[in-house]
Amino acid sequence: MALPSINPTTTNAWKALQEHYLSIRDKKLKDLFLENPERANQFAIAWKDFYVDYSKNRINETTKSLLLDLAKEVKLDQAIQSYFEGDIINETENRAVLHTALRTPGEKKVFVDGKDVVPEINAVKEKIKKFSYEVISGELKGYTGKPFTDIVNIGIGGSDLGPAMITEALEFYKNHLNIHFISNVDGDHVHQRLKGLNPETTLFIVVSKTFSTQETLSNATTARKWFTQHAIQEAVSKHFIAVSSNISNVTNFGIDSENIFPLWDWVGGRFSLWSAVGLSISLAIGYDNFDALLQGANEMDEHFKNTPFENNIPVILALQSIWYNNFFNAESEAIIPYSQYLHRLPAYLQQGIMESNGKSVDRNGVPVNYQTGTIIWGEPGTNAQHAFFQLIHQGTKLIPAEFVGFKHSLFGDQDHQNKLMANFFAQTEALMNGKTKTEVIDELNAKGLSETEIEKLTPFKVFEGNKPTTTILIDRLTPKSLGSLVAMYEQRIFVQGVIWNIFSFDQWGVELGKQLATNILSEIENKEPREHDASTKTLLQKLLISDLK
Ligand code: F6P
Repeated sequence: MALPSINPTTTNAWKALQEHYLSIRDKKLKDLFLENPERANQFAIAWKDFYVDYSKNRINETTKSLLLDLAKEVKLDQAIQSYFEGDIINETENRAVLHTALRTPGEKKVFVDGKDVVPEINAVKEKIKKFSYEVISGELKGYTGKPFTDIVNIGIGGSDLGPAMITEALEFYKNHLNIHFISNVDGDHVHQRLKGLNPETTLFIVVSKTFSTQETLSNATTARKWFTQHAIQEAVSKHFIAVSSNISNVTNFGIDSENIFPLWDWVGGRFSLWSAVGLSISLAIGYDNFDALLQGANEMDEHFKNTPFENNIPVILALQSIWYNNFFNAESEAIIPYSQYLHRLPAYLQQGIMESNGKSVDRNGVPVNYQTGTIIWGEPGTNAQHAFFQLIHQGTKLIPAEFVGFKHSLFGDQDHQNKLMANFFAQTEALMNGKTKTEVIDELNAKGLSETEIEKLTPFKVFEGNKPTTTILIDRLTPKSLGSLVAMYEQRIFVQGVIWNIFSFDQWGVELGKQLATNILSEIENKEPREHDASTKTLLQKLLISDLK
């Protein structure tokens, strides 16, 4: 069944939300808390080792109930069913969207075109398990008989960001293998990474769903050239493996067919870390931990599928994003993990969220008359506090921020953890409460400043406050909790796409740049710029003359 196609702005709920917005837009969060002593409990969801507090958002019971009505009116329940049942919901590519099947327990059945795909998934999982064991234990050796010490993942976009983000996030659980990532077509990236590696003990994983991506093929070719300069040609088969759905392209590239870990067209690149694309994760932390990551994701999937919308974490968070994006006209959202391990989470989510929902045509092929696609950005706290938080606190833009933190640290240094968590809570409180003029004056008086000085400084020290935040407090960063967290964001992307009535699982917008780059490359190689706009032509000429004048 196709996804329902309903312009959200035509629903009764949307119209009611527009009116309701007028009555709540100037309301202070502080007052919402005063009016409702139960607010902190009523606007929170406790689920397994997650506690999601969304009470510091500019919503009340009416907002929540209208947003839930919106979800009902666009038939979100029907869309969720189609998604999990393997219907062709990625219509422009004629594909099902079933990354959720990759984390389904082995005994379940999932059908694509009438065929249960779980046995194939299980076979690939077994292959990942066996291979991971052999490499980690040193049983599998390089061409000179030495165990592998270094793994190089060559891929880009979803074939890089997921594995890179997760291996960094789970570094605490890592074994002795060194994991490297090469993604950018910038030659300095590949050469810098190869520098210092020992070809005898290095294993390359070339990850590309399509096996036609310029960056990945260029980097894989350079890596192979580097390898064969040091080793014999025959050794390539022991040191190069591939993860792809395009078997013929892989074998044409020269990788042995038994060295291919397959994936399927119903796994989108940015949702693929749960497949063999996650091989480098399994090598880094061992298969059991990789499996725990999948289990965590599956638990979130089950929560998403089976929980009434009013207590459904991905649904509630998605509805809040819609509220800020479409009614408050917020331009972006910040995601601030209070864990250095989650350093790459915002970058990973930028692909997931912005490649999925950066669309301006609805599911009927008609340009939308409302905003879609949230702009996501962020960095870990507390670093972010000393960088861009000033703008969130006192800038002119409304930036809803999401704080993700863990009750327990992994090394157990309680002194650091207390300080980290103190900052974690302090920021959301400061963003909500701000600082009034009276508070500023009292503070400056207490410091003994003169009246003139106080008058001069006060306007700069007042914080308007009323900045919305959501706090996701998780027990501990483990493979399982991380799996749940990432799946939570995936399901939220889906919900937002359904409400905006767009196709979230294609990415045609990235194709034009790729096509033009192919044309310009031949002009650069032949030193012959052809017809372009005047700016591009001048820039090309500047590139092609030996020194800029
Ligand atoms: O250009 C965008 C994109 O298609 C992403 O969606 C994808 O994750 C990335 O390129 C890499 O694609 P592939 O795995 O086919 O090399």
